[in-house]
Amino acid sequence: MPGTPVDPTPLSFAYWVPNVSGGLVTSTVEQRTDWGYDYNRTLAQLAENNGFDYALSQVRYMASYGADHQHESTSFSLALLLATERLKVIAAVHPGLWQPGVLAKWVATADHLSGGRAAVNVVSGWFKDEFTALGEPWLEHDERYRRTAEFIQVLREIWTSDDANFAGDFYRLHHFDLKPKPVDVPGRPHPEIFQGGNSTAARRNGGRVSDWYFSNGKDYDGFVEQVAEVNAHAADAGRAGAVRFGLNGFLIARDSEREAREQLREIIAGANVEAVEGFRSAVQQAGSSTSDKRGMWADSSFDDLVQYNDDFRTQLIGTPEQIADRALEYKRRGANLLLLGFLHYHEEVEYFGRHVLPIIREKEAELVAREPALVAGA
Ligand SMILES: Cc1cc2nc3c(=O)[nH]c(=O)nc-3n(C[C@H](O)[C@H](O)[C@H](O)COP(=O)(O)O)c2cc1C
Repeated sequence: MPGTPVDPTPLSFAYWVPNVSGGLVTSTVEQRTDWGYDYNRTLAQLAENNGFDYALSQVRYMASYGADHQHESTSFSLALLLATERLKVIAAVHPGLWQPGVLAKWVATADHLSGGRAAVNVVSGWFKDEFTALGEPWLEHDERYRRTAEFIQVLREIWTSDDANFAGDFYRLHHFDLKPKPVDVPGRPHPEIFQGGNSTAARRNGGRVSDWYFSNGKDYDGFVEQVAEVNAHAADAGRAGAVRFGLNGFLIARDSEREAREQLREIIAGANVEAVEGFRSAVQQAGSSTSDKRGMWADSSFDDLVQYNDDFRTQLIGTPEQIADRALEYKRRGANLLLLGFLHYHEEVEYFGRHVLPIIREKEAELVAREPALVAGA
């Protein structure tokens, strides 16, 4: 953290689109959240009016732990783009299931339909049964990331070149010219490419080829360690400072800290034990399967896994003031964006916009004024 320049641009906010059933926690606790389109359309509109810049859809093709029904991520993302005016929507996609040229075309069209608001989250996957049920090969962990790196390079090549060529182990292009190219948005060379994880391979891809690196929920040290390593990979690849960082967090803001803590306790007490344990065993296919055993969920406790992106670890839980302080501590450590999940989306997104965000903005202005040397990048 010390030595990390504070980003003078305001923290961005994204939310997890609840496009799979069961909400964001694997618990029998009441969740006033619905995975259907009507609920999600209203949510997207509420979100863009309450300070959110991005929505991130989830990709899941078949029933998994606590998510029996799912809407497909790219079509759902497009529907949300068309229902909003400013929100950027990030569609999650798996290399191995999509051909990158076809996806590049899909994104270009979605970008034109939405005035330059389409983005992608390229996920390398952990759910082996989903691939095998679809009849697709399940590559070993680091091979999946090597394929993801090529996938991202192909997207970028197609979006920026009139004569796109690529010769890789997984993908090839021969004089491909995409027309129309994505929308020309100032400051954005092409639709933004997000990628996340925790394993050594995910960090390398984050630094070498991604625009954004998404971290699962982390405490301060866990987040700082990833930022440093991803930045080192970026510098090695001649892209120093090019990667921005998004951090997951499950946000429970209540008028008193006691109420917020009690809400977390209820969520964990109501955990669907069978589903959480099933998920724990399936995600052994992620970073835990690598030789250094470092990866998402490699050291997650049962309580952590009740939120399947370890989001409780970020501890955005308490009063609006406490949450604002914590958000800014992450900003000081390199976060450019917070990716948030909620228990009762509609009402909590509004509560966030009304009570939490104004405090964050106030404290953020103070922080930037207080640390001018860092802001200047000195
Ligand atoms: C922000 C974020 C969103 C993700 N969304 C999905 C998703 O929608 N579907 C999916 O199968 N995996 C998703 N993943 C998980 C990745 O596919 C992958 O399994 C994980 O990042 C692997 O971690 P590892 O690099 O530690 O092995 C997501 C990961 C992150 C960080």
